[in-house]
Amino acid sequence: MNKELLNSDISIDRFKEISTWVSSVNNLDQLLELIVETATRMMNARASSLLLVDHKTKKLYFKVATGKKKDDIKNFEIEMGQGIAGYVAEKGEPLLVPDVNKDSRWYKEIGESIGFKTRSIACVPMKVKGETIGVVEIIDKIDGSRICEGDVKILAVFAELAALAIGNARKIELVTREVSDLKEQLAVKYQMVGDSRALRQVISDAHKIANSTISTLILGESGTGKELLARLIHWAGPRKDKPMILLNCAALPETLLEDELFGHEKGAYTGAMRQKIGKFELADSGTIFLDEIGEMSPAMQAKLLHVLQEGLILSSWGQ
Ligand SMILES: Nc1ncnc2c1ncn2[C@@H]1O[C@H](COP(=O)(O)OP(=O)(O)OP(=O)(O)O)[C@@H](O)[C@H]1O
Ligand SMILES: [Mg+2]
Repeated sequence: MNKELLNSDISIDRFKEISTWVSSVNNLDQLLELIVETATRMMNARASSLLLVDHKTKKLYFKVATGKKKDDIKNFEIEMGQGIAGYVAEKGEPLLVPDVNKDSRWYKEIGESIGFKTRSIACVPMKVKGETIGVVEIIDKIDGSRICEGDVKILAVFAELAALAIGNARKIELVTREVSDLKEQLAVKYQMVGDSRALRQVISDAHKIANSTISTLILGESGTGKELLARLIHWAGPRKDKPMILLNCAALPETLLEDELFGHEKGAYTGAMRQKIGKFELADSGTIFLDEIGEMSPAMQAKLLHVLQEGLILSSWGQ
């Protein structure tokens, strides 16, 4: 760490603490505020802000702002290339301007209209996979000293942290949306149709089973909807948000089947290059559907019975 960074009173522990926020704070807005506020305090800045690029308009808007005029500043938007923030967002490079009045890029209109005088400014881009998604900037020091290159470096660390948090949140949002779309599609695809007394009784039984933890054996002629019923049992109960794991027991030879069901540790046998998690473990807290169970050998069925009765899998299983 160079001298400037050390002078800025940043301890490794403080950074460690901050990095734990990324995983512990669920609310992204709150996390970004925390990051910007801490950066501001650490560098003793008079004001700071985090601006994001709007996907549609390609303009920058104020996501987080600190300082006396933090509420007023949020009404403004900045064009790409406009002012210091717009310049940094466009170029994707950090910028230190010790005196804004001597810099032609300075966009003084915002400061003038909210009555905030700026002297020096440091602005760094936030990047996700090489793409600039916004910028973080600090304005002046409370004690009147100038912002220096060391501050730019510190600000860059915070910008990286913020970008990481935003990138993760966007990924999670995307995956969550995809999962819910797929669930909707599956629910339509696997909807059980029929109004006979017998089927109504089966569906009613399935709902009771769904709300219990008992194992269920589904018997029926080919094509009568056994898999459909298994899915209904999974979805109709408290396990619906947990995994449902399907395994066709007839599709695999016995040795592979055992491996599929129980998995193995790395090096458990020649060729076990890495750990493999078994279907039982994958289905933990959810549902495992063992299709064509009647095709298994009696020995394998006995092993299964043990698991189903005890509700436990042993780590040394099958070794
Ligand atoms: N009650 C029902 N409502 C709507 N679709 C049904 C119903 N019963 C069966 N089907 C449809 O018939 C097909 C076979 O159902 P499913 O795979 O659940 O039967 P299965 O008993 O597991 O058959 P197999 O023994 O051949 O594996 C599926 O396309 C399923 O959606
Ligand atoms: Mg089937």
